[in-house]
Amino acid sequence: MKIAIANDHAALELKNQIVKHLEEKGLEYVNFGTDSTESIDYPLFAYKAAKAVQSGECDLGIVICGTGIGISLAANKVPGIRCALCSEPLSASLTRQHNNANMLAMGARVIGVEMAKAIVDAFLNSEYEGGRHQRRVNMITAIEQGQAPDSLL
Ligand code: RB5
Repeated sequence: MKIAIANDHAALELKNQIVKHLEEKGLEYVNFGTDSTESIDYPLFAYKAAKAVQSGECDLGIVICGTGIGISLAANKVPGIRCALCSEPLSASLTRQHNNANMLAMGARVIGVEMAKAIVDAFLNSEYEGGRHQRRVNMITAIEQGQAPDSLL
């Protein structure tokens, strides 16, 4: 499994901790930056990671900014991306299981390092369950494609 990871200046320190965590677990990743604390615009980096997931270059993505909000909003504008902002592990597991989320967002100013590692583990160790959830995920895709979700009822 290959993981795309990206962040803004507010999240460099947490990104580095998460990268170390992935390395300790022997997980492959692509770091799309930023690797600087100079103030930058989070959509630039959200876009790079999201495109890598969209194209299949990476299987899943992790994006981090100060709150996790801006970078998740930007990632979710890339078609095919379902990026879930999580502040605890249960949501991270459930968004993989139920929403087939393919990207995880976290807020470096919101959670600590140990919580972030637990969230990453929960996200990466959970699998999409399909079944009754598939129609709902298809509805999300329908909305993304400009269709009304009730067209799938
Ligand atoms: C940067 O100051 C901050 O706005 C950004 O990291 C993020 O929190 C935006 O949603």
